[in-house]
Amino acid sequence: MGDRQAIGVGLLGLGTVGAEVYRLLQDGDALARAAGRPVVVKRVAVARPDRPRQVSVPAGVLGSNGLEIVTSPEIDIVVELIGGIEPARSYLLRALSSGKSVVTANKALLAAHGVELFAQAESSGAHLYFEASVGGGIPLIKPISESLVAARLQAITGILNGTTNFILTRMAHEGWSFEDALAEARRRGFAEADPADDVDGHDAAAKLAILATVAFRRHVRGVDVYREGISRITPRDFIYAKELGFGIKLLAIARIHDGEVEARVHPALVPLDHPLALVPDEFNAVLVEGADVGRIVFSGRGAGGAPTATAVVGDILAVARHLAAGVRGRSLIGAGTGTRVRPIEDVVVPYFLSLQVIDRPGVFARVAAAIGEEQVSIASIVQKSRGEVAEAILVTHDAPERAIRRVQDRLRALGVVKAISNVIRVEGSV
Ligand SMILES: NC(=O)c1ccc[n+]([C@@H]2O[C@H](COP(=O)([O-])OP(=O)(O)OC[C@H]3O[C@@H](n4cnc5c(N)ncnc54)[C@H](OP(=O)(O)O)[C@@H]3O)[C@@H](O)[C@H]2O)c1
Repeated sequence: MGDRQAIGVGLLGLGTVGAEVYRLLQDGDALARAAGRPVVVKRVAVARPDRPRQVSVPAGVLGSNGLEIVTSPEIDIVVELIGGIEPARSYLLRALSSGKSVVTANKALLAAHGVELFAQAESSGAHLYFEASVGGGIPLIKPISESLVAARLQAITGILNGTTNFILTRMAHEGWSFEDALAEARRRGFAEADPADDVDGHDAAAKLAILATVAFRRHVRGVDVYREGISRITPRDFIYAKELGFGIKLLAIARIHDGEVEARVHPALVPLDHPLALVPDEFNAVLVEGADVGRIVFSGRGAGGAPTATAVVGDILAVARHLAAGVRGRSLIGAGTGTRVRPIEDVVVPYFLSLQVIDRPGVFARVAAAIGEEQVSIASIVQKSRGEVAEAILVTHDAPERAIRRVQDRLRALGVVKAISNVIRVEGSV
């Protein structure tokens, strides 16, 4: 096949993911077979073209002019692997508005500006693919949006951040503090110098917003996701959780109820035999549930240049096949109306409470009575005497968040409760 019929690709970014994508795109014969037409990288733009690279790019192809890529008539598919909001957002809007298709791995951009990007793709008939934005090399977006389109998914529960799963796994297995486990994650290259994006749950919240948007076909933005990080989890929480039959994970949870979406990222107790409790170290997993399909679990490496690049190239080939067949792009979400997001106060789950109480007869009865006064019932309780002070570890039955907040106020007002060490939501079943 001659180059005239080739589908032109422009690559924005040649870093951890971009270099691996470029490498995979050198296998011209395999690409042409998969796409039905040759797929050729025509231009690559980076911030600093003179930097040494892991891949060798011909001098005429490598440059620093991203705008040229998104406006050049020889580019059909713009692949954005820069990251961050600007200039990625402006480049992609420009590309889509001139009918070019886009493949991106940029979760931060989609979670913040997905609405305008999807709308622009829809009005231009361009394709907008983003498999690599969630779960690295784990196929999630296509299975959820295509294979499961008829499944009417109702819930997504995921471990979407490898850094925090590594930290929590080390805390559970080694008994390490959060700080020591974070230091080990840094040593192994899993955590950035500034780990806030991971440990405070921002990264998982952005990915959950994308998954919820795809699964429920309604726009859910990163800012709509309630978020708590893992830094207040202690080794003692793991010990008590285990005694009660639970592990602790940073979960990303989205559900749909009568048109209202629930979306939250926070640490959670998970039964030790739950599929997500068994996901170790830096691995990711996503459990989707629908009335007709039951539970389906996807798991694997959620990041890394090579796995993520396979997802990007899978998208490039999917788009190339559509272009070869003359198929117009259709947005997954369409015009998309606003979504009502359930306030966290209305979310109903069981809770784990770890309390320090004065160790004398009658104290537990007072604690139980204070909890009962808010119509919250206790499913299990463990108590440990430590001299003057005892620890009381409780798991409640389902209770609304607002009731648990009132329970905490009541407990603080009881003279016999010295401290509320931690309050953690429970997922799975009690
Ligand atoms: N790394 C992963 O495991 C992973 C996994 C899933 C998704 N992602 C997503 O993939 C995207 C890329 O991540 P990455 O880890 O590959 O990032 P990275 O290693 O930091 O690479 C970024 C690339 O963008 C280039 N760049 C920066 N500003 C630019 C500009 N204004 N114009 C053109 N090029 C510019 C950089 O140029 P220089 O090389 O000259 O500095 C570099 O090549 C992000 O959205 C990230 O969230 C990454």
